[in-house]
Amino acid sequence: MSKHILVAVAWPYANAEIHVGNITGAYLPADIFARYHRLCGNQVLMVSGSDAHGTPITVRADAEGKSASEIYKNFHNGFLNLFMQLGITYDLFTTTRSGNHFEVSQTIFKRLLDNGYLYRETEKQWYSPNENRFLPDRYVEGTCYLCGYENARGDQCDGCGSILDGKQLVDPRSRTGNLSLELRDTEHFFLDLAKLAPQISEYLEKDKDHWRSNVIKPSRYTVNEIGLHGRAITRDLDWGIPVPLREWDGKCLYVWFEAVIGYLSASIEWALNKGDPSLWHNWWYQQEARTYYFIGKDNIPFHAVIWPAELAGVGRVFPDDPAGSLNMPYDVPANEFMNLEGEKISGSRNWAVWGQDVVERYGPDPVRYYLTINMPETKDTDWSWAEFQQRNNDQLVATWGNLVNRVLSFTYKNFDGRVPMPGDLCPEDYKLLDVIKSGFDDVGGLLEEIKFRAALQEAMRLAAEVNKYLEEQEPWSTIKSDPDKASRSIYTALHAIDSLKIIFSPFLPFSSEKLHNYMGYDGTIFGNQSTRNVVGEEFSYDVLEYVSENAIGKWEPSVLSQGQSLRKPSPLFKKLDKEIVTQEMNRLGD
Ligand code: MF3
Ligand code: ZN
Repeated sequence: MSKHILVAVAWPYANAEIHVGNITGAYLPADIFARYHRLCGNQVLMVSGSDAHGTPITVRADAEGKSASEIYKNFHNGFLNLFMQLGITYDLFTTTRSGNHFEVSQTIFKRLLDNGYLYRETEKQWYSPNENRFLPDRYVEGTCYLCGYENARGDQCDGCGSILDGKQLVDPRSRTGNLSLELRDTEHFFLDLAKLAPQISEYLEKDKDHWRSNVIKPSRYTVNEIGLHGRAITRDLDWGIPVPLREWDGKCLYVWFEAVIGYLSASIEWALNKGDPSLWHNWWYQQEARTYYFIGKDNIPFHAVIWPAELAGVGRVFPDDPAGSLNMPYDVPANEFMNLEGEKISGSRNWAVWGQDVVERYGPDPVRYYLTINMPETKDTDWSWAEFQQRNNDQLVATWGNLVNRVLSFTYKNFDGRVPMPGDLCPEDYKLLDVIKSGFDDVGGLLEEIKFRAALQEAMRLAAEVNKYLEEQEPWSTIKSDPDKASRSIYTALHAIDSLKIIFSPFLPFSSEKLHNYMGYDGTIFGNQSTRNVVGEEFSYDVLEYVSENAIGKWEPSVLSQGQSLRKPSPLFKKLDKEIVTQEMNRLGD
């Protein structure tokens, strides 16, 4: 039976370009998972968008002397281009600047207020007399009161990963260097996490065996050991979503409060676009639906604690929604970080490999290959240019690309460009096809468990099996001595790579589509992605959409027809010269 799978992907802040660490951290694993489930015939809804509000954007705007809106637009459009080129197939990639997101966020705020999970309190906030304004948490830095890390931010500590109460920072200073900060009174709304704590605690105890320990452990620790207390969800800011109450002018919803609501609002926007406004219910209210959140480890508390708390407090979103409550995250498979040549990625130090550069220089699939085989699933990993070049040549090209090229060219030349008609196959032929067939279960099982490195390794092992088979069968010699045998071997090899094309396709969709075409099929494995301009009441914005209508790919062994005409092949991948390693290394750093 087909299942509803929500693939919720971290919303990139529209204040910086996307680098390989971001891609392997969240966007690529989400896409692999979504593509796999689509091939399985499940109802996938993959949503995300640009996280446009909050201080990350205003900090950048201030630094460049631009408006927050200019900054956001520029990066948002860059994201759409990059995701198109990399084939990250969001059903909808939108923005927190959409009118729909404003409305849904304000609705959720009111629902929480009505349900008694918000309270007002006048609190002290760091105020900078020199700048004449309250400083958002992110503008305040200091020493973490939990672990002593010296460069903690007011909202979060990168030393111990905890969510912080900015007021308690030791030796606070503003980002701009002001030391004379004072705490002044300001009134805000708070999410009553203490009241929601029993529900969160129960949620985190129940059925979490499939969760990664790096996600469940700190979350349980936060709730059960540190304890939950109210958190301010409004800010003294003008760039953001206004608090939907009279007399709250000049205050906005806190970016983390509303950005996570994006998963829901984007699902609603998607359903509206489809012309069926309640379509999103299938993923959000139906209990059998599964919701997966693909994020980096720095986002864990917001997705495993705060967002579940918001969801638990909302009840139904709109009065006409079905009775029941919104689905809690089924899994939050957060990844660790990817470093670069042994050091932390840092945009400001130009110690980064930008997605746009790398996809333009090497094409999407070689990048996807390296980022998957090296994905930081259980520990931090490292992007090394030497390793990139070597894995491209010795694995992707040598094991998979050359295999495809060899078999297709040989068929093209010796069998008149058609799949041979071999008569009965022999046991060694069946043996190979059985191995490939069981690959669908093995690789599929690993994909389901979100173990993508292992899944891709297993796919490569299967490709190596086909190479071994060809070395044993030697069709290039038997074509002269025993043409029947040669046609059996080539038929079997074509059948195997035709199946492997599907097994590789969640990881390497572009080359699998090419191979699909060379094999002579019409139609495509996956659907199509495109961008579209949406004209809203207040502002227009571009979105990225994936439509799967004409997709014919299925997660099952191929049913290759004998006699099928192939199309003229050309190599799927290119070998990379050793030179690129030095070239790329020279680009790094100041
Ligand atoms: N913009 C955040 C980041 O880049 C992630 C936000 S995920 C969301 O760290 F769900 F909250 F939007
Ligand atoms: Zn800390």
